Amino acid sequence: MSEELQKKPVFMPNRSFAKEARIKNMCEYRDLILEAEEDYEGFWAKLADEKIDWIKPFEKTLDSSQAPHYKWFVGGKLNVSYQCIDRHLDLRKNKAAIIFEGELGDKKVITYRELYYEVNKTANLLKNRFDIKKGDRVVIYLPMIPEAAFMMLACARIGAIHSIVFGGFSAEALRDRIIDAEAKLVITSDGAYRRGKPYLLKPVVDEALKEGCECVKKVLIVQRNNEDISYVPGRDYIYNELVELENPTCEPEPMDSEDPLFLLYTSGSTGKPKGVQHNQAGYILWAQQTMEWVFDVKENDTYWCTADVGWITGHTYIVYGPLAMGATTIMFEGVPIYPDAGRWWRMIEEYKVNQFYTAPTAIRLLHKEGRDEPAKYDLSSLKVLGTVGEPINPDAWMWYYDVIGSGKCHIVDTWWQTETGGHVVSPLPGATPIKPGCATLPLPGMIAEVVDENGNKKPVGEKGLLCITKPWPSMIRDIWGDSERFKTSYFSTAKKDGKPIYFSGDGAMYDEDGYITITGRVDDVINVSGHRMGTAEIEAAIAKHQSVAEVAVVGRPNDLKGESVFAYVVLKPEVADNMAEEIELYKEINKVITKEIGPIAKADDVKFVPGLPKTRSGKIMRRILRSIAKGEEITQDVSTLEDPSIVSKIQSCVI
Ligand code: WT7
Repeated sequence: MSEELQKKPVFMPNRSFAKEARIKNMCEYRDLILEAEEDYEGFWAKLADEKIDWIKPFEKTLDSSQAPHYKWFVGGKLNVSYQCIDRHLDLRKNKAAIIFEGELGDKKVITYRELYYEVNKTANLLKNRFDIKKGDRVVIYLPMIPEAAFMMLACARIGAIHSIVFGGFSAEALRDRIIDAEAKLVITSDGAYRRGKPYLLKPVVDEALKEGCECVKKVLIVQRNNEDISYVPGRDYIYNELVELENPTCEPEPMDSEDPLFLLYTSGSTGKPKGVQHNQAGYILWAQQTMEWVFDVKENDTYWCTADVGWITGHTYIVYGPLAMGATTIMFEGVPIYPDAGRWWRMIEEYKVNQFYTAPTAIRLLHKEGRDEPAKYDLSSLKVLGTVGEPINPDAWMWYYDVIGSGKCHIVDTWWQTETGGHVVSPLPGATPIKPGCATLPLPGMIAEVVDENGNKKPVGEKGLLCITKPWPSMIRDIWGDSERFKTSYFSTAKKDGKPIYFSGDGAMYDEDGYITITGRVDDVINVSGHRMGTAEIEAAIAKHQSVAEVAVVGRPNDLKGESVFAYVVLKPEVADNMAEEIELYKEINKVITKEIGPIAKADDVKFVPGLPKTRSGKIMRRILRSIAKGEEITQDVSTLEDPSIVSKIQSCVI
């Protein structure tokens, strides 16, 4: 029996929690599943009617005429910032919308009314001073500070399309994203704090803008740590000063359901990052609905997701989802282990956090670093614990369940992606019996299935493709500027009833209860500490080093990070003769990666090899390289290789 299929313990929802939950048991869950099955469009139309404050109601629920460019809630008009702020003002104007805590312990509470003013002033500033119009792209390169949320919502208010670039990306990576989106404005900060020390962001923007960014007219800078940075007159402006001059009301722009809301670049298996495009109505509907179902956040709850706004989790589950439902969301600037490994647990005690959402990597780290830390704090406010971003190993899951949740909090292991906009496969905290390391069942309305290329469901215990076989409202609409790639990336691997279906890139497997266990990516994408990276991108970076002739990158299982970057490098002949410099080269190669992508893509292993295992047609057999990196015996047939002896040569370099 495969490891994945071994019987796992089952944990039932907490009874008293379930009584009050929105979905209280599996009967209610199945009713919703049936409802969606019987009338798919009716199911979604009802939710959209109930949840969205429409400026103008939609006329058609789903338009498939240009599939796979599906359109949802056609003809409707709304404004996402109105959905997230204005409509709460009657009931919640003095409720905390955002609770911010900085790395150094500085705190700020922003009520819904304050959020309204901040966002309106910012919207006016973007519109009036920076000439940002509906449809213009704005790149946001900010740390985890409340201004990041103000900027996102201000863009949404005036119909500008934001594209957030994670603050850990390098100048080169930032530049690529600015150019691809043809951004008119870049918003950044002087710097921020990490591990207790200030660091700078603005110089990275200066570097990025040195080449090829003629599209960028202005740079708007939030003063976060008042570090000494240089300003380019006529291009650079200070947000903190200008925003105060603006009028605190700005009419929300009526947006079409299918106008773009934001772009978010993510890695694919080939080439450069893809600008995943999400649109208005479908996205915000599912962001809000999943907050309600999956975290079951109640009116007086305090919810905390530790992600960064630079990733989709930060978009959907720090900003848009929580605010759309009128919740209180915590935003934290720092790292989990500063000043010590008790930081997060102390914050949970202090803010009486009810729902806590984080990544398996962080759980593993905190488990290792601070086994005794959680015991020092009162974590009894917790009701729901969530994980996201990568498979969680049963050990870490049990620690999370027992030690953080005291055995009384349900764990929601949420499977989803940048492209899905919100959760797809996840337990419901009041209903679904859970098993360690298992994302369990698709949410109502999400038709996620484990299938083969022809859309046939895989039998229990057999690995298959994790596909979503019907369009859903929060799905990716396009890859910015590359519709062809949109089709080939997601709709060319599998079909059902002759029609292309969405393939996620992940493999998965059913267990005897019909639960879905994610087995990991089946394409050339790796997941390092929950960060998604294309091996092709890392290869392209390494290939820029002057001594490198050829390179292949694979993922290697890592106890803490999930996977680590493992690079096989073939040096140019003149360098290869002088291998004494291996350590130097290892450092240099990581320097190139840091420059081209960012420190998150650094290689733990760089192995210098005489050649790569290639077929006669020149294709690199990565499966062999993955096995060698794992230290496995090679069971694959190597006879199709141009030079089968290369395998043992590579093995001897790796040991
Ligand atoms: C990839 C998506 C989803 C927001 C954060 C990452 C992996 C995600 C799980 C999970 C196992 C998971 C998948 C997926 N993944 N959640 N619960 N269990 N794997 O978003 O950067 O778009 O990455 O993360 O491989 O395809 P992303």
